[in-house]
Amino acid sequence: MAERSEDSYMWQAIDLARQPLFAPHPNPRVGCVIVVDGQVVAEGLHRAAGTDHAEVAALKVERDLKGGTLYVTLEPCATHGRTPPCSTRILSSGISRVVIASPDPNPVNGGLGIKQLREAGIQTEVGMLADDARALNRGFFSRYERGRPWVTVKIAATLDGRVATANGESQWISGEAARADVQLLRAQASAVLTGVGTVLADDPRLNCRMDGLQRQPLRVIVDSHLRTPKTATLFTVEGDILFATGGKVESESLPTSESQSRIVSFESADGRVDCRKLLDYLSELEVNDVLVEAGPTLVGEILDAGLVDEMVIYLAPAILGDSAKAMVITSVINRLTDRYRGKFEDVRFVGDDIRIQLLLS
Ligand SMILES: NC(=O)c1ccc[n+]([C@@H]2O[C@H](COP(=O)([O-])OP(=O)(O)OC[C@H]3O[C@@H](n4cnc5c(N)ncnc54)[C@H](OP(=O)(O)O)[C@@H]3O)[C@@H](O)[C@H]2O)c1
Repeated sequence: MAERSEDSYMWQAIDLARQPLFAPHPNPRVGCVIVVDGQVVAEGLHRAAGTDHAEVAALKVERDLKGGTLYVTLEPCATHGRTPPCSTRILSSGISRVVIASPDPNPVNGGLGIKQLREAGIQTEVGMLADDARALNRGFFSRYERGRPWVTVKIAATLDGRVATANGESQWISGEAARADVQLLRAQASAVLTGVGTVLADDPRLNCRMDGLQRQPLRVIVDSHLRTPKTATLFTVEGDILFATGGKVESESLPTSESQSRIVSFESADGRVDCRKLLDYLSELEVNDVLVEAGPTLVGEILDAGLVDEMVIYLAPAILGDSAKAMVITSVINRLTDRYRGKFEDVRFVGDDIRIQLLLS
C-alpha cells in the first residue's frame, strides 16, 4: 500500500471534526488522528461540551502508542475546564510527536498546551493545514479575536434576487434539497436570528429538525416592540428563544410550553434594536456562529452596519419580477465604488437550485 502523506492524516482529523451533528457549542470543533508505524490506530472528535475532547477520545484506544504521532486540528488544552487537560493525557500516552494545525485563540489556553508538550520533550509542530482547520471554527476564532460571533446570512432568492412576492409570500422559493441544506446550517449554528417581519409573515419554527442533533440553536427574534404573537409556532417547539427589543417593553409573560423565552433590551437612537449591542451580548453568551434568516429589512440593516461575514444564497431557477421583495434593503448606494463586494468561496448545485457561498470579511 502506498505511504500516506502527513497532510492526509490532518485532513482525516479535519473531516472528523466537520461532522455537522457534532457542533460542540460553545467549544470548537476538533478532530484527532493517531498514527503508529504508518497506520491510523485511533480517531477522536469532540462531540459536545463537557464530553471528551478529541485527543482524549482518540487516546482511549487500547493499544501501545509508543513512538506514535498525534495529529490534532487545534492546540490541546492545558488547563482544567469541564474536563481534565488534554496535554497531561498526551504526556502519559507514549506518543512522541504531536502535529497541531492551529494554535488555540483562547488567551487562557493559547500557547500553553504547545509549551507543556515541548517542555516535556514531545516533538511538537504547529501550522499544518492551519487555514483549513481555522475554517472549521470561524465563529470560535471570531469570538476571541474580534469579540463578536461569525455572522452568516442565509437567503433563498429567485434568479432576479427576489425573496418574496409583493404580498410577502416566500414559502417556498427554494427546493427541498436546498431546504435540507439549511437544516445543516442550523445544526452548525450556535444561534439562528430573524426579524419580527419574518415571524409575522412566515410563522417559522427556526429549529433544526435533523435526527440525532445534540442541541438546538438559540433562536433570536429581533422585535423592538414585542409584536410577536403569543400564538406563534416558535413557542410550540423545544429550544430557547431570546427576544431582542429596542427598549423596555411592557409585556405579559411569554408562552413557555415547549420553549424558554427571555427578553433583553438593546436600545438604539431610533428605538429599534441595536444589532451591534445584540451581537456583543451573544458573544458574552459564548455564541460562536449566528445564522441570520431574516427578511430584507434586517439583512440590509446588518449589512449596512458591516456585521455580515458570509452569505449563503440559494438561487432558484425562477423570476418574480420587480414588484416582488428585493433580497436586501440597504442605504442608498450612489457610487459603484461603495457597493458591497465579496468573494465567491463555493458555488454548486443543490437539487434544482444553485448554492452560492459568498465571503464578505
Ligand atoms: N426568501 C428568504 O430567504 C426569506 C427569509 C426571511 C424572510 N423572507 C420574507 O421577507 C419578508 C419579511 O421581510 P421584513 O424585512 O419585513 O422582515 P425582517 O427583516 O425579518 O424583520 C424586519 C423587522 O425587524 C425589526 N427590527 C428591529 N430592529 C431592527 C433593526 N435594527 N433593523 C431592522 N429591523 C429591525 C423591525 O420591526 P420592529 O421595528 O417592529 O422591531 C423590522 O420591521 C416576508 O415576506 C418573508 O417571507 C424571505
